[in-house]
Amino acid sequence: MSVSHIDDLPLARPQGCPFDPPSELGRLQAENPLVRMTYPDGHVGWLATGYAEVRAVLADQRFSSRYELMHHPLPGMEEIGELPPAPVGDMIGLDAPEHTRYRRLLVGKFTVRRMRQLSEQVERVTAEHLDAMRRKGPELDLVAEFAHPVPAVMICELLGVPYSDRDTFQGYVTALFAADGPPAEKFAAYQNLQEYMGRLVSAKRADPTDDVLSELTTSDLNDEELAGVGGVLLAAGLDTTANMIALGAFALLRHPEQIAGLHADPDKAVEELLRYLTVANLNIRAAREDVELGGQLIKAGSTVTLAMHTANRDPLRFADPDALDLSRDAVGHLAFGHGIHQCLGQQLARVEMRVAIPELFKQFPTLRLAVAPEEVPLRPVHQSIYGVHRLPVTWS
Ligand code: HEM
Repeated sequence: MSVSHIDDLPLARPQGCPFDPPSELGRLQAENPLVRMTYPDGHVGWLATGYAEVRAVLADQRFSSRYELMHHPLPGMEEIGELPPAPVGDMIGLDAPEHTRYRRLLVGKFTVRRMRQLSEQVERVTAEHLDAMRRKGPELDLVAEFAHPVPAVMICELLGVPYSDRDTFQGYVTALFAADGPPAEKFAAYQNLQEYMGRLVSAKRADPTDDVLSELTTSDLNDEELAGVGGVLLAAGLDTTANMIALGAFALLRHPEQIAGLHADPDKAVEELLRYLTVANLNIRAAREDVELGGQLIKAGSTVTLAMHTANRDPLRFADPDALDLSRDAVGHLAFGHGIHQCLGQQLARVEMRVAIPELFKQFPTLRLAVAPEEVPLRPVHQSIYGVHRLPVTWS
């Protein structure tokens, strides 16, 4: 008989392969892609691991994104008690129609065309950082010198946030997303980020410049909403792409036979890296009404945890899913989510990755790890964005 109920969310990655989702989740997917799961606060909800099931939940607006309706699947979070509703401006935690108002405003600022126009800027920023690496090398931490600063400069330039303030806002964002930080510290970090963005918004209103935040001052968003939106965009644009670039480089260093494919078709290669690595590895929704899914009844009020990394390794959707194959057509992967909350910054992230990853390997063809692969410090498995803390590399 197949498993129908589990007591904890499996989190540990398999020994020896930091890129694969927990093996237990793969086994569940094969046996029963939608199972009951007991949450740390005692709630009996669901866990979806199959591509079809995860995609169906994300596409269905009977499943809510409102935090206050959710039970958290990660141990430790139950201490907070009920999750608070989304702070002002945090569209990720809203449903339609409140979500629609923000989304409509922002979608026009992140068009494919506008992001493609940023290519030259990304090329310049990438080249500057690769030059600096050459001067500093031949051994350094790729996260600190390249994977982190390139997307940080780009999101700052796009939003109109001074890059010179990076240490300040990065500190707030890191504390906000810290996997094991005490809730009080997270709330303080959010408050600090909000105040920082609030000061910036006032400055943009008084003296608009050529950037997204200044453009948004002409919308109907009030100062508090604008500071909230600015904070979400900044936070969402920092660690996500940085970890994709760093983990992507790590994966390619472990699979050097794939590097030719990266240069042959960077667009295709980036989609496969997104699928294979799925750094935003978990997502959560709450059923607002009874929903029938895959022959099972998900009752109103139930939380559903979505194992995004496992869904993107579903053999029913992708042949030989555990192989990194940069020549495959990975379109349709769920690394940017799906449905009304699908990543707003995905075109920006794509432009950054399509330039930064191939250029790194073009300019440093002898790039290799400076430590044994198992010594590369990985981010904790329960962090919302997976990746590496540091990636020590060297070249000759
Ligand atoms: C490779 C990099 C990235 C990955 C893997 C990623 C992943 C995701 C995912 C999975 C979601 C859906 C969340 C949900 O369904 O609840 C999302 C939403 C979002 N992302 Fe990204 N993201 C990336 C880069 C960015 C960047 C650079 C920005 C900055 C502009 C950004 C801004 C957002 C925003 C604002 C949302 C919320 C959209 C909404 O609620 O309508 N992301 N992202």
